[in-house]
Amino acid sequence: MVMRRRSVSSSRWLYNHYNDQYVQQVFQKQLRSRSWFKLASLQCSDNFLRPGIAVIDLGSSPGGWSQYIVNKVRNIRVVACDILPMHPIKGVNFLQGDISENKVLNFLFNLLNNKKVQVILSDMSPNISGKAEIDIPKSISLGELVVDICRNVLEINGVLVVKVFQGEGFDRYLCHIRTLFTEVKVRKPHASCVNSREVYIVAKGYKL
Ligand SMILES: C[S@@+](CC[C@H](N)C(=O)[O-])C[C@H]1O[C@@H](n2cnc3c(N)ncnc32)[C@H](O)[C@@H]1O
Repeated sequence: MVMRRRSVSSSRWLYNHYNDQYVQQVFQKQLRSRSWFKLASLQCSDNFLRPGIAVIDLGSSPGGWSQYIVNKVRNIRVVACDILPMHPIKGVNFLQGDISENKVLNFLFNLLNNKKVQVILSDMSPNISGKAEIDIPKSISLGELVVDICRNVLEINGVLVVKVFQGEGFDRYLCHIRTLFTEVKVRKPHASCVNSREVYIVAKGYKL
């Protein structure tokens, strides 16, 4: 999914968008989103998706990450969630709802038969206003929500991959993640726009 930044004029944005190598490949390979390449890059560097595991994909729509997972990894269980609808993907159990609501979280746990998972992924983004002082705190709050979800459903030694915007509050959030996991990396996949504040924290070895 590609978001328009306010500082770029719409014609320039359209020009950049359609000349973007990843956008072109999205059409050629019939992928759900440009984000597909970000997960591909993270998996290549950190190798956290393995056959036989169960994964939660938060902020899954339109489905690039879920599509990557079921197509690239054998025998993997995926439960995906987004506020927005998502066209079905074979092998993915999708729940539409806001994950910050308790009733949605409980539905998610039910879909997992109350069993813990080995990997939690979050590519969740707030609606972008273009104002750092609004967008960054919202992104960090989503990140904190994901940490709460880890407490409930991530197995010991499990992996968390979470997108957060860099800026005020990011270092504090990263320090918190470091207390919960044994190995923590901050990644900026090549497919992530250079002028975007997003980075991905890849945290392995959940301590509980
Ligand atoms: C960048 S898109 C995700 C792209 C997706 N990973 C893919 O590969 O196609 C971010 C998504 O986060 C979702 N989102 C934001 N806040 C959410 C929340 N509280 N609960 C569930 N989904 C949320 C948005 O609706 C949006 O679809």
